[in-house]
Amino acid sequence: MLILGIESSCDETAAAVVEQGRVIRSNIVASQVDTHRPYGGIVPELASREHIKNIVPVVEQALQAAGVTFSQIDGIGVTYGPGLVGSLLVGLSYAKSVAYALGKPYVGINHLEGHVYSVVFENPPIAYPALALIVSGGHTELYWMPAAEKYKRLGHTRDDAAGEAFDKVAKLLGLGYPGGPVIDRLSPRGNPEAVSFTIPRMTDGTLDFSFSGLKTAVRRYVEEKGIKPVVDPEHPPQDVLDLIASFQRAVVRTLLDRVASAVATTKPQTLVLAGGVACNRQLRREARAFAERVGIPLYYPSPPLTTDNAAMIAAAAYPKLRRGEHSDFALTAVAGLKLHNLDLEPASSRRKVRYRI
Ligand code: KG4
Ligand code: ZN
Repeated sequence: MLILGIESSCDETAAAVVEQGRVIRSNIVASQVDTHRPYGGIVPELASREHIKNIVPVVEQALQAAGVTFSQIDGIGVTYGPGLVGSLLVGLSYAKSVAYALGKPYVGINHLEGHVYSVVFENPPIAYPALALIVSGGHTELYWMPAAEKYKRLGHTRDDAAGEAFDKVAKLLGLGYPGGPVIDRLSPRGNPEAVSFTIPRMTDGTLDFSFSGLKTAVRRYVEEKGIKPVVDPEHPPQDVLDLIASFQRAVVRTLLDRVASAVATTKPQTLVLAGGVACNRQLRREARAFAERVGIPLYYPSPPLTTDNAAMIAAAAYPKLRRGEHSDFALTAVAGLKLHNLDLEPASSRRKVRYRI
């Protein structure tokens, strides 16, 4: 089964052709980073306009690179939420037009489910129950998955997403956009112990996250120490390097603190780490060390499949299209689409174990 995946939820126009849900025949991503860079963040209106310009050539390129024509495609998977509504509508409307014109099935896919499926290409099949941490520019969510396509949200961010915190801290320090890759690259040159940030925990016992306090703590530190935005982003002064290394350490520790708590109560068979922030090398390293300590396999994608792409959307569409699940042409974009589809409580272990991170 050949599936055309289409993704346009944020600032990447992407199309991919995936065979049998696991083999990538092509994976094309047109990034809009240069368009949004001068603003230090995504401008929704500009994003929609860029998608309109890019969607047709990107899909054509994906078909060409896969060596197939529209007529050889068996179905289409397209992101319909969550994301920027104007951006989502471009990919969704285009996918519907193609499905209608060709008389082929199409299915709307939740972008977050796409991120979960981003691990299927380079890892063994996910063993269930699984625990998935999705960390991106728009989301920081922890899911318990007792079976494929079943999601119980154990925690989510109450304010900023982890990627958003990276982007805002980088902007504050004049390090450029997007901030995550820059901070990841520069942090090894700083001392992560230089500034001590507290790891916030929720008083209500949930596994929710919060990153706005950390962002404010960074801003206060910058004001107190009189740190100025850097002049040369390639060579920031040592106090800035120390600050971002300490900030990155705090983000990684916060994320893994919740994962450790969830592992202790849900005893998963697989850990999944996905979303743009999962590119972060310190997060990967520490998550791997933690997974080895607790003896649970950890799956994350290689960097091109970690940030937004359409191969993951095609992979998520595969089980649905295979069992004949199709979306109606009345389907519309849902900016705040939820992934949570289960109210079961995870089977709690009798003995609570606390893992150190
Ligand atoms: O998943 P993604 O491509 O788009 C969304 O769905 O949001 O994630 C983009 C986010 C941005 O905030 C970016 O700064 C962050 O992922 N990011 C990183 C790294 N690479 C991308 N954050 C930390 N370290 C990285 N290496
Ligand atoms: Zn994403």
